[in-house]
Amino acid sequence: MKKLITAIAAGAMIMALAGCSSADGGTGDTGAAKDPSDIVVGFAQVGAESGWRTANTKDIQDSFKTAGIELKFSDAQQKQENQIKAIRSYITQGVDVIAFSPVVETGWDAVLKEAKDAEIPVVLTDRAVDSKDDSLYVSFLGSDFIEEGKKAGDWLVSEYEGQTDPVKIIQLEGTTGAAPAIDRAEGFADVIKADSKFEIVASQTGDFTRAGGKQVTEALLKSNPDVDVIYAHNDDMGLGAIEAIEAAGLVPGTDIKIVTVDAVKDGMQALADGKINFIVECSPLLGKQLVDIVNQVVAGETPEKRIITEETTFDQEQAIAALPTRQY
Ligand code: AHR
Repeated sequence: MKKLITAIAAGAMIMALAGCSSADGGTGDTGAAKDPSDIVVGFAQVGAESGWRTANTKDIQDSFKTAGIELKFSDAQQKQENQIKAIRSYITQGVDVIAFSPVVETGWDAVLKEAKDAEIPVVLTDRAVDSKDDSLYVSFLGSDFIEEGKKAGDWLVSEYEGQTDPVKIIQLEGTTGAAPAIDRAEGFADVIKADSKFEIVASQTGDFTRAGGKQVTEALLKSNPDVDVIYAHNDDMGLGAIEAIEAAGLVPGTDIKIVTVDAVKDGMQALADGKINFIVECSPLLGKQLVDIVNQVVAGETPEKRIITEETTFDQEQAIAALPTRQY
């Protein structure tokens, strides 16, 4: 009897060891659901350049706190080299998942390859990378920026419907090389090119900041005093433009129309006040969906490769109605 029990116990141990090594390739990770408190995520944020970014950071931190998952957070201050350093440090620390919102589109292959070699899955949030190898990340969660640019262009086309006089536009671009700057310019240009009355007379980066939007508008208004419209790639630059327009003795929203992207509270307030004329929404509330992706990845599941955020647009009346319950 004693011999039989010993044989059964030994057999069970062998089966357990065999099961472990066959399921996980010897890594010790069976793909089974992990306790949230055992998961560590490294998040490399762009910076704190805009109201959108502040809302995005808060939402991500709150969502991971609620989920009980440890989040290591770094702020790259809009510098790619800082983000690369942060990602390398997350690789060294052996986090379970790395998530980041790339400051610019290009130049990521080497560090993403390092993460892949270390078997750490990477999730892109908000912004894309420009890489031929899409195996370097497991999922990309964020807006369709080309579509946002198109929506801004569509508004312009309908606003000036029936007018034959030229419409002169100043474009305030986001950070040079960043996906939202590239795509919002492309989507907008695609729509307005159908009518030759629309002319972008000047286009310069304001780096997605209020100060940048103000400074660039001040300078461009001097060389283009007869401009009709400012298209700003985000609310913050539009808000900076408002300050510059008012300082020049003009009325924003009337003398110069303004269309922006984001729909953060300050932008929505300016729209409600008639200083901005139209806003295309870009949602910063990506935290909950990012937590879901992390849980899927850690459980050995395959998340969708591209998850596009749902968004709308706002005119003045819609902004007035939305403001009291606006979360960010
Ligand atoms: O990547 C999203 C963009 O980055 C937002 O539109 C802008 O406000 C932010 O800085």
